[in-house]
Amino acid sequence: MTKIDILLGLQWGDEGKGKIVDALTPDYDIITRFQGGPNAGHTLEFNDKKFILHTIPSGIFHPGKINIIGNGVVLDPEVFKKEINMLSSENSELTSKLIISSKAHLILPTHRILDAAYEKAKGKLKIGSTLKGISPAYTDKASRNGVRVADILKDNFREIYNSNTERHLAMLAGYDLEFNLSEFEEGWFEGIELLKQFKIANTEYLLNDSLNEGKKILAEGAQGTLLDIDFGSYPYVTSSNTISAGACSGMGVSPKAIGEIFGIFKSYCTRVGSGPFPTEQDNDLGQKLRDQGVEYGSTTGRPRRCGWLDIPALKYSCMINGVTRLFMTKADVLSGFEKIQICTSYNIDGKNTDVFSFDDDKNIEPVYTEVDGWQENISACKHYNELPQALKSYIRTIEEATGLPIDIVSVGPDREETLFRT
Ligand code: GDP
Ligand code: IMO
Ligand code: MG
Repeated sequence: MTKIDILLGLQWGDEGKGKIVDALTPDYDIITRFQGGPNAGHTLEFNDKKFILHTIPSGIFHPGKINIIGNGVVLDPEVFKKEINMLSSENSELTSKLIISSKAHLILPTHRILDAAYEKAKGKLKIGSTLKGISPAYTDKASRNGVRVADILKDNFREIYNSNTERHLAMLAGYDLEFNLSEFEEGWFEGIELLKQFKIANTEYLLNDSLNEGKKILAEGAQGTLLDIDFGSYPYVTSSNTISAGACSGMGVSPKAIGEIFGIFKSYCTRVGSGPFPTEQDNDLGQKLRDQGVEYGSTTGRPRRCGWLDIPALKYSCMINGVTRLFMTKADVLSGFEKIQICTSYNIDGKNTDVFSFDDDKNIEPVYTEVDGWQENISACKHYNELPQALKSYIRTIEEATGLPIDIVSVGPDREETLFRT
């Protein structure tokens, strides 16, 4: 029996998960998403082409690989339809290699409207949600009102849809928001028809049977650990468990079935949306990171907040997930900084600590260690040994602090710009 490897984000999302999953896919038979939904935007670049995936796993471009949308995902049929249309020109065998869990929940048009209503009502305290309907859809799942993918095959699906929509409209009557539901519905129902052309299955059986047959499976996380509903900067989080524990419940596999846990992080930090960000550089340095890293949201286009690498936060994420190997992306973005700051601890109310805390009543000041930068453009490097000494020393500092090896260093957005150390 083989084990499932998990790849997940250790920061606030957008660590480059899509790029690395795509680069690793040749080593696996099956790629599966286990949580999140169209709030995710996973970017892949190869052969001078760029694709952004929201719902479909990032293994989809490789021939002969099975891609699964697991039960923990919330799926918007309209977004799904747009993704399939985008992929159709590249992929002829989509219906045979993409399988959807019958237990995944649907995002209804009214979930998106409710998301907007909740955010508007929060005013200054808004989460900065992607407004894709994530929180209302997971709320309905937890309150046992959700609509699942299997429901679309039932004769009374329209009734199920109508009763949920009516319930949502009654809720929306309490909010000050104008909307036109029919604008949302047309594309959504077209998406439902398209979904029916795909294999809808109890993917927990498929995954466990595949392990018994010796198949290799990679689980692809969405968002990042610091956006986890339990361990992130609550309430400025998403509505699912983004951590390794969420992978088991989001796929229907035992913790005993998990092999490697790959934790991916950027060589600096970014965050999109509201909430605490201790090492944020809301200044020229942050703007330089944003410019060099092209830090604009893949799903919403919003500028990402940028700051230095936060080691206590990284160690926290490694602990919560049980990370076994680290992958570092966007090393190239740090080229051209004379000095680089690494946050090694915090000063909280006059006390030095490396305990990561999101209590917003506390005054958290990062304590930085300054290291030398490097000036070389490293995107053309093909081997780890070619990297500048200062970058290798930066990598060693992180390895020593976390006690974990950095096995992949990514030096550009393209599939080929990936340095494997082992
Ligand atoms: P994900 O959500 O974790 O899949 O990450 P996103 O796709 O939202 O954001 C990562 C962005 O950085 C995308 O535009 C990627 O093309 C890009 N990217 C990934 N790895 C690297 C890298 O090593 N260097 C550079 N410069 N860009 C990268
Ligand atoms: P990937 O998979 C970065 C953020 C939003 C907001 C908060 C809640 O591409 O890394 P939600 O729509 O889930 O209610 O938003 O979470 N967020 C992300 N930030 N990358 C993502 O996904 C994100 N998905 C949600 O900006 O702050
Ligand atoms: Mg993203």
